[in-house]
Amino acid sequence: MSNDFYTIRLNTIRGNEEIPFDLYVAVGNRLVHYTRAMDAVEVDRLRGLKNHGVKKLFIRPEDESAYLKYLEVGIEALSNKSVAVEDRAARASDTLIVSAENAEKNLDTEVGYESQLRQLEQISGFIGEDRKAIKGMLQASGLSKDTNQHSATVCSLSIAVASKLEGFETKELTELAYAALLHDIGKARLKFDYNRPYEELTKDQQRQYQQHPADGVGLLAGKPFISPRILGLIAGHEEYGEGRGYPEKKNLFQMDTAYQILSLTNKFDRFCTVKNLAPFQAIDPFFEQNAAFYDENLIGTLATILT
Ligand SMILES: [Fe+2]
Ligand SMILES: [Fe+2]
Repeated sequence: MSNDFYTIRLNTIRGNEEIPFDLYVAVGNRLVHYTRAMDAVEVDRLRGLKNHGVKKLFIRPEDESAYLKYLEVGIEALSNKSVAVEDRAARASDTLIVSAENAEKNLDTEVGYESQLRQLEQISGFIGEDRKAIKGMLQASGLSKDTNQHSATVCSLSIAVASKLEGFETKELTELAYAALLHDIGKARLKFDYNRPYEELTKDQQRQYQQHPADGVGLLAGKPFISPRILGLIAGHEEYGEGRGYPEKKNLFQMDTAYQILSLTNKFDRFCTVKNLAPFQAIDPFFEQNAAFYDENLIGTLATILT
């Protein structure tokens, strides 16, 4: 149906503002022209689409770069308090998912890297400044159904936890956010359904699965603009508890705070998906099962953010 079209996310479209490209909406098996370039869509009309369960819209492929520019402007406007915080949070959340979808392509060039970096700084600012931002983002994204959604949620949760703690400088925070967004990029190479419970995978599949942090580092290692710190965090994101993770079976004391945050938010979002629980409901059962494997203060901070 939409082979010739480029899929975009509804929440990234801003109401009452000119949109520099034509929009199409899916009706059954067809794409229907929705608005013309330079038209504005009223906020209520966008809400109406959302209420009908529409999550995606479509644009012509030649408009892709105009859309990416439009996203940049939208992210810069996250601090605009005249727009409801829920709408800004939904925009931030969907923009992160789009970034996770396009991560490999974005990182082809240093320009792409820098633009992604600015986006993460803006989103970090938004989460740090407004208490309601992270809740709105989690609400908008819902349960992680695929790796891109998962990466976006791990990224926003990592930013939220780190912003609550003292001692994180902007650069450290952005590197953590970047690593969180990219942490599972190595999974793209897996040729089997890795979303099944780990115990159900064959021995060979488990071995391949455990390679995904290293595969991710391998994919990114040739890019000089990606810092060793980001690569290190990706390599270590499956380490947790006292030697329970992989590949190095590290103990907690061998992992600095940023490593622990990434490990914690990664496990937590996975827990929500597997148990089919919203983050707000998952915190207590997660705490019961995992309190022994993480720093109490970190889990406590995560709980504070969610309640
Ligand atoms: Fe992972
Ligand atoms: Fe993950």
